[in-house]
Amino acid sequence: MSTAKIVQLPEWHEQIAIIENAAAVVPWSRHNLRSCFNAGYQNFGAMTGDGNIVGFIIVQQYLRDEWTIMDVAVNPNVQRQGIGYLLVAQVTTAADLAQAEIVLEVRESNQAAQLLYERAGFKQIGKRKEYYPNPDGSREAAIVMSRKPQSA
Ligand SMILES: CC(C)(COP(=O)(O)OP(=O)(O)OC[C@H]1O[C@@H](n2cnc3c(N)ncnc32)[C@H](O)[C@@H]1OP(=O)(O)O)[C@@H](O)C(=O)NCCC(=O)NCCS
Repeated sequence: MSTAKIVQLPEWHEQIAIIENAAAVVPWSRHNLRSCFNAGYQNFGAMTGDGNIVGFIIVQQYLRDEWTIMDVAVNPNVQRQGIGYLLVAQVTTAADLAQAEIVLEVRESNQAAQLLYERAGFKQIGKRKEYYPNPDGSREAAIVMSRKPQSA
């Protein structure tokens, strides 16, 4: 179990692009990640005792009652220690308080992330064919998942 703590990330940190590049099969560009550090987003990081960011989650909150998890990633050398779950749980707890539904899309092949989201209470609500581009030019479906707010 990790001792990382979850902190708000109001500002961009270069470590976010480094983690994304190390963890994701098809990483978001630095430009696209940076564009999420703006009004309408609430982002969190997992910080170790020495102040290092080892994971992050990006949440779009354009609507008061429907949020979107845009991305979550954990540095590969500290995966499977509960950090991804802590990041998602931070957002589900806040969404319950705000009575917001959370929706997200995840690659059909990304079993690890789907299991993580299921553990956090998400259910599949749809599938978008040929949604994500692959590096070889083919395309992959997105699984659409949602989690309704739970009352205390
Ligand atoms: C998905 C990701 C964020 C999970 O982070 P993590 O810190 O390793 O996750 P946790 O240790 O909190 O795992 C929580 C649960 O998720 C599931 N899980 C996580 N990684 C898994 C894996 N490699 N295989 C199977 N299940 C996995 C398990 O159910 C796990 O619970 P368990 O350890 O009790 O079995 C991480 O694998 C990652 O950064 N992946 C690349 C980026 C990505 O795909 N992001 C999703 C974009 S939609």
